[in-house]
Amino acid sequence: MIRLFVNVDHVATIREARKTTEPDPLAAALLAEAAGAHGITVHLREDRRHIQDHDVRRIISGINTPLNLEMAAVEEMVRLALEIRPYQVSLVPERRQEITTEGGLDVCSQEAHLKAICLRVREKGIRYSLFIDPDPRQVDAAVRVEAESMEINTGLYSEQKEPAAIARELDRIRCAARAGAERGLRVFAGHGLTCDNVVAIAAIPEIEELNIGHHVISRSVFVGLDRSVREMMESIDKGVRKRPAGISKN
Ligand code: PXP
Repeated sequence: MIRLFVNVDHVATIREARKTTEPDPLAAALLAEAAGAHGITVHLREDRRHIQDHDVRRIISGINTPLNLEMAAVEEMVRLALEIRPYQVSLVPERRQEITTEGGLDVCSQEAHLKAICLRVREKGIRYSLFIDPDPRQVDAAVRVEAESMEINTGLYSEQKEPAAIARELDRIRCAARAGAERGLRVFAGHGLTCDNVVAIAAIPEIEELNIGHHVISRSVFVGLDRSVREMMESIDKGVRKRPAGISKN
């Protein structure tokens, strides 16, 4: 089974629409865990549009599974991560105007910066992951900065409608996953994944962890969070069962 980290940012998005106290992302995290999620993910954005600093502190001390903290590679966030010590930090690119994370990190253009953060984070025993596009140059750069893991951006794959385009993007993801695993990186994936399109991703044998938020939280409006998480786990399981025998990482 792949580990599923449920991203609860959009519970905070609803709360921030009214600047009130409900719904509580910690309560959502606990429900996701009870439904079987292996971890919780939050993205503390520089503009604090959904998750707030106090959410990160409450969630890390309230949950029973690991916290994956997504953040930009900036000093303010690095200091916070070093202080609160999540299980893992995932570095993502951030632009204030974007609706959501739009692409992977350009690791190649900031290797020294990302390696320096890697060393500081690792010193505190925090795992270090880089969110990158399925591009062999970025995989090589992630190895050079000594990241422990890479999260492959499945955003472009999830946007495709035509079978040929879906197949092309899947192929890029498979190649990147293989290249990363061969070079010692742990391979994760996420962005735009749904109960339908996650099956082919979960079938990729190198992938160990998925970060999924928007679809799970959206569907929970209609079926409840417990059922939404369970349905996602069933879809992931369907993919895992399609893996070629003998080469799965899990
Ligand atoms: N991984 C990363 C790095 C992200 O920034 C996000 C969105 O916050 C996700 C995964 C989850 O994407 P989605 O909400 O589309 O499932």
